[in-house]
Amino acid sequence: MKKFHSPLAAILLFSVNVVYAQIIPIESKSNAIVLHVNSDGYLSMVYFGKKLADKNEYQQIPSTQNLDESNLYSSAYTTAGTHNVLEPAIALTHADGNKSLDLKYVDQSLVKLSDNVSQTNIRLKDPVYAVEVVLHYKVYAAEDVIEQWSEISNLEKKEISLNKYASVNLYLQAKSFWLKQYHGEWAKEMRPEEEKLTHGIKTLDSKLGARADLLQPPSFIISIDKPAGEDEGDVLIGNLEWSGNFRVDLEVDPTDNLRLIAGINNYASDYKLAAGAVFETPKFVYTLSHQGKGEASRNLHNWARKYQLVDGEGPRLTLLNNWESTFFSFDEQKLSEILKDTKKLGVDLFLLDDGWFANKYPRNDDHAGLGDWQVNKTKLPDGVGFLVKEAEKNSVKFGIWVEPEMVNPKSELYENHPDWVVKQPRRGDFMMRNQLVLDLSNPKVQDFVFGVIDDLFTKNPNLAYIKWDCNSVIYNAYSAYEKDQSNFYVDYVKGLYKVMDRMRQKYPKVPMMLCSGGGGRVDYGALRYFTEYWPSDNTEPQERVYIQWEYSYLYPALTSSNHVTNWGKEPLKYRVDVAMMGKLGFDIVVGKLSANDLQFCQQAVKTYKEFSEAIWHGNQYRLQSPWDNDVAAINYVDSLKSRAIVFNYLVSHRFDAGSHAPVKLGGLDPARHYEVKEVNLYPGVISAVKGGIYSGEYLMTVGINPEVREERPSVILSIEERK
Ligand code: GLA
Repeated sequence: MKKFHSPLAAILLFSVNVVYAQIIPIESKSNAIVLHVNSDGYLSMVYFGKKLADKNEYQQIPSTQNLDESNLYSSAYTTAGTHNVLEPAIALTHADGNKSLDLKYVDQSLVKLSDNVSQTNIRLKDPVYAVEVVLHYKVYAAEDVIEQWSEISNLEKKEISLNKYASVNLYLQAKSFWLKQYHGEWAKEMRPEEEKLTHGIKTLDSKLGARADLLQPPSFIISIDKPAGEDEGDVLIGNLEWSGNFRVDLEVDPTDNLRLIAGINNYASDYKLAAGAVFETPKFVYTLSHQGKGEASRNLHNWARKYQLVDGEGPRLTLLNNWESTFFSFDEQKLSEILKDTKKLGVDLFLLDDGWFANKYPRNDDHAGLGDWQVNKTKLPDGVGFLVKEAEKNSVKFGIWVEPEMVNPKSELYENHPDWVVKQPRRGDFMMRNQLVLDLSNPKVQDFVFGVIDDLFTKNPNLAYIKWDCNSVIYNAYSAYEKDQSNFYVDYVKGLYKVMDRMRQKYPKVPMMLCSGGGGRVDYGALRYFTEYWPSDNTEPQERVYIQWEYSYLYPALTSSNHVTNWGKEPLKYRVDVAMMGKLGFDIVVGKLSANDLQFCQQAVKTYKEFSEAIWHGNQYRLQSPWDNDVAAINYVDSLKSRAIVFNYLVSHRFDAGSHAPVKLGGLDPARHYEVKEVNLYPGVISAVKGGIYSGEYLMTVGINPEVREERPSVILSIEERK
């Protein structure tokens, strides 16, 4: 039984200019967080749910104070070492070795950053020790999205040690909570699991240092009271904006409520904070919807495009990549041919992948050369500049692959700067993909990494695209630079972000793909610097339906780099149709395509461009999940609701598998009329779909059958308004 005591007294108690016993409502378009400062000065979260029309009524919300004897279960930033007995959000060791922290309310400010964005800052202070914490709540009202983080100030005379330093500490009150989480490995990214949270703590975390999401991303979905559907149910989607070790603690407390604490993982990271220094945690971004996972993910997509991604509201480049068609084996002539093919295919850009660099230890496979970013003179005697010019001759753009955070022991970089490499000084090397990680906590290494990119752009101002890879986790974590090893994991990521900040200052909009041997580094911290990510090296198209489906809960379609390759046994059309539901690219030998295949691909690129506005910037509706249907279906509607595109994929090969019933569309205007047509047909194939003009209401209520079956395993429908 929950013990809800005394409704909030709206009396203002003044103690040395500090106003205790007050509430702090933080509102977005549909929701409100209500914080409460009790008469002792403790800040707790008493409400997170639908916003009320009358703000004054927040005063009536029962206090969560006295849920327990400590009064701290619902703390807005739970401390350690005093009277809290549950998982803390913050724990530290003072300069004198004492480990207790008590935070009391000092003051607050509300800053309006634009018509849509406002930020509430709440200052807390330890009455005994000189430590201050400011909690930040940045609200994107129209999107119902909040970013939350904290700043911890050491006002003591000597260094203190931060033992835990979360970004967020939420308190959700309900009968039950359902967690949807993800796990994975190389080529197996984003495998979901959903379960009811039980009492105690469920922790999601990473200790990989770099490529930190390889086994588990810092993204999760919490449904309240029951697992939310696409269009119904209360649901929170959250993501930690941090590309290193993270930790999310989900604690169902003794009163059955959920304490959500997320931030940097404190594993091996008792962060030393100098006297006078301020530690800013990464942001945790989250959205709460009362209309299911569909709306929650659209909230995040809208926020990301508008506020987080590089050029989120801009266009994206279609491309041809040479990784799977050549691997490391190419020369000028071969690439010149591929550049001609890029034009023939009709895509915007050619992306040169791994293998173009290093001379003393040429990069002819993944054992050597990483770190030596000079053009390989045997393969490319006329340099990258020659290729950029060849691209121009063919009226296409040119992009290039880099992995500047890493080094092969067989490289000049390793020979010249062994102290730049993360490794244990007294132990042997232990490697992933024959490579080691450079120590980005070291400013000299930051300069080097920035220099790799800067040099490429200085020498080739028309370079139009970067694929930034990161293929190893951190083993044997040790920095020759750090004074205290406990700061290394955190400073590595901060160093990475410093490089990225410099990059983006100088090259603000150049498109850049966030790759990590697949999706080993997909989070909103990294995506602040990128236009898109690489979901997985697994491009088997049916696998991709699932992987792309799950990523779509977090990230908008224009960020998902989907390449058509030769993986799998599905027909070319299926592979292209699957790649078209995100950012379309190809990684095939165009010269080997039959005339019909080539014609189909060329037409597909045109169709994709026609509908790119809906795919990139429109609203996404997941209609039928691949997990429990023969046919997965998803549609995108442009912001004017005048154009939509529906993707349908057969994912079962059981007897008679197919779309036996119509698929109900989402996001159209019920009162308008739309023409339905099958598009992206293979040359000579006649559509089996009963196209024609239907009302939006009909398409969303009765639906349309895409006629998917074994002989027609993927179908794309265009939906265009007809007046
Ligand atoms: C990683 C990437 C691939 C490719 C190779 C190159 O595995 O995910 O797309 O770029 O590296 O070595």
